[in-house]
Amino acid sequence: MQNMFITIDGGDGCGKSTQLKLLEKRLSDCGHNVVTCYDPGCTPLGERVREILLHGHELEIATRTEMFLFMAARSQLVEEIIRPALATGKTVLCDRFLLSTIVYQGIAGGVSVDEITEAGRIAVYGVMPDIGFVLDVPYEVSQQRLKISRDKADRMESKGETYHRKVREGFVSYATIEPNRYVIVDASQPVDVVATAIWTAVCNKTAN
Ligand code: TMP
Repeated sequence: MQNMFITIDGGDGCGKSTQLKLLEKRLSDCGHNVVTCYDPGCTPLGERVREILLHGHELEIATRTEMFLFMAARSQLVEEIIRPALATGKTVLCDRFLLSTIVYQGIAGGVSVDEITEAGRIAVYGVMPDIGFVLDVPYEVSQQRLKISRDKADRMESKGETYHRKVREGFVSYATIEPNRYVIVDASQPVDVVATAIWTAVCNKTAN
């Protein structure tokens, strides 16, 4: 299997961290040298920006500004971690990427998706996932999972039901327009069923 850049996105509480770990293990077992990362974060700058974005409850952050902050963290992540890893034959597995900005700040937040795409093109140096998974779960299921896994909502999780319903719909509608890159997986299924669906899509991608 050749090296790849794989991303996993989805609404909060979709179960992507669990699936990321399972996919990392499967890829490693197949001989891949895997680098995992998450967006925003993983670089010293990205971690500071993440702190502002998720925990700066006291700050006034316009949605357009929020978009640029996510892009800045991502640009550094690509420069410092993703691009060098891909260039040395590693497979990169990233928890969220550009699609999250298109959906959270764009479709749900109201910033023009065309403008985000343009800013994204500049931020990521053309580094885009070979395959991007979208884990789709109903709003009610994600809320239940968040209640179990976290006791205090962060800045993004606190944006309310209408926003998060738009996020869910936005992921599915955007992923549907780019079927060669994005694969939607019903993540309300049991963990092992979701993991098998992801693995099958990865194998199919490399077979093509
Ligand atoms: P997470 O990495 O723990 O999922 O948290 C990141 C939060 O930030 C999550 O609520 C989704 C949100 N987010 C955006 O709003 N835009 C983005 O571009 C990214 C990467 C994340």
